Amino acid sequence: METTLVLLKPDAVQRGLVGEITGRLERTGLKIVGMKLMSVTEDLANRHYGEHAGKPFFEWLVSFITSGPIVAMALEGDNAVAIVRKTMGATNPVDSAPGSIRGDFGADIGRNLVHGSDSPESAARELGLFFAEGELLSYVRATDVWIRE
Ligand code: RTP
Ligand code: MG
Repeated sequence: METTLVLLKPDAVQRGLVGEITGRLERTGLKIVGMKLMSVTEDLANRHYGEHAGKPFFEWLVSFITSGPIVAMALEGDNAVAIVRKTMGATNPVDSAPGSIRGDFGADIGRNLVHGSDSPESAARELGLFFAEGELLSYVRATDVWIRE
């Protein structure tokens, strides 16, 4: 079982797409085990995007993710990382397939609405940055048996 981190970036919140995007992610069958509206400090942004430090778009990335409230979400399920990445679509909305979140709502590589961890290792690191112990819940849904064996 995997848990992955999703961020609905400031453009998703400002454009009123929180419900739409959350609904698409919920309908995959993944379970929401953590969720909050929050501001990202510059320190948190630097740590979250540390792998991109030094790249030409790094400073813009930090200023964008700190520019307004985001929604942080933890989603649990087998292959959660890959399922979220598929639902999000390719990084650049020019390349993301219709039917994906970025393909349907994105027009710009920076303002691409969502973040999803790119591996189970990244997910563990990023979940630790955005959620304190105790903020991730363990619970059973009545529908779980209809989603997976
Ligand atoms: P994310 O981390 O946001 O889920 O996106 P990703 O894995 O698909 O893309 P990643 O390579 O991790 O890049 C992080 C974010 O940086 C912006 N970016 N801009 N101008 C550029 O060439 C460029 N490349 C990446 C995107 O907003 C991307 O989501
Ligand atoms: Mg990434």
